[in-house]
Amino acid sequence: MLFLRFQLLIFLLNLNLSRCEDKRNSIISALEKATLFLEEQYNELNIDGVFGYRLLQAYLNGTLEKWALVSGLESEQVRVRRLDAKVSALIEKAKRALEKNEPDSYRAFHQALSPGFWKIPHQWVQNDPPVSFSPTNGSCLDLDTSDSCISILLGSGAGGTPCLVPDNCRSIMIKTHCSGYGLSHQLFYFLFAEMKGCSDPLFHNAQYYKSVFCHLMMQINVEAEKQALLGTEGDLFTENILFCGLAGFSDFYKPRWLDIILNWQKRERGCFWMFDSSSPVSEDHHKEARRVKRTEKILEGECASHNTAVAVGAIGGFLHYGF
Ligand SMILES: *[C@@H]1O[C@H](CO)[C@@H](O)[C@H](O)[C@H]1NC(C)=O
Ligand SMILES: *[C@@H]1O[C@H](CO)[C@@H](O)[C@H](O)[C@H]1NC(C)=O
Repeated sequence: MLFLRFQLLIFLLNLNLSRCEDKRNSIISALEKATLFLEEQYNELNIDGVFGYRLLQAYLNGTLEKWALVSGLESEQVRVRRLDAKVSALIEKAKRALEKNEPDSYRAFHQALSPGFWKIPHQWVQNDPPVSFSPTNGSCLDLDTSDSCISILLGSGAGGTPCLVPDNCRSIMIKTHCSGYGLSHQLFYFLFAEMKGCSDPLFHNAQYYKSVFCHLMMQINVEAEKQALLGTEGDLFTENILFCGLAGFSDFYKPRWLDIILNWQKRERGCFWMFDSSSPVSEDHHKEARRVKRTEKILEGECASHNTAVAVGAIGGFLHYGF
């Protein structure tokens, strides 16, 4: 009996291992296809699109460093190393195209497209917020303010001094009643500050705010999944996973969430498309896309630049975390 149980245990362990291997292979295959898409469309992506691939590349690099310490993943290492090199080279081409196509946003944010800008987490925290928050009235961060606060933080403005925090940014970035992209971009701001090593007093409590924001973002994702709102909220859902994963909250790396994201990939093109595909009229998709995300750019063949960016970044996080 004991022996049988032992065999069962071994069987289950093997099953678990091979499941993990399957997942890892589907992640790498998805990323290989997404890289083919980048190769085709690097000229057309907006800055958010390129940004997503830079995050992916940071995760590929981190994955390789992690795997250097383990054996048994040689063939996967070869594939990921090839991906890393290819994505890195294509990002440089995409940057040159951006500099021409979107000179203003390129000037403001190009630092975040540089190799080594993004440091991925080396340890994980479970999200355990100090207190719970309920929505109250008041204004929230809008995307123009977010862009302006981030570019000032980067020192991309006239003076060139990094880490400045104007008063309007200081007050809006710590609101704890917001949702949607306003909320995810509050976290984004703190992540930029961390990567730049900014020491403004606002960032002394960074861990506290990150934990509060990701607590709220987790609730949004759980609710979106429960209500099957993913057709309209898929982009935000994935952005939340990308940003909170980058903030070190591993509870966002749920295997079923990975499957949801992988299912949004258009197999033949390698890009991602998260809008409801039940409606036959593609013009509607485009309208919906514009309404949902200001910075979305629809590319030929139902490919969405921002959708693809958040998906490849998030999937890179899953790979690095341990699939
Ligand atoms: C990861 O990136 C760093 C800095 O860009 C580089 O020095 C290092 O060799 C890379 N590691 C791997 C495994 O590619
Ligand atoms: C928010 O504003 C509405 C109307 O302006 C008001 O009825 C409500 O009580 C306010 N809620 C809070 C929590 O302040």
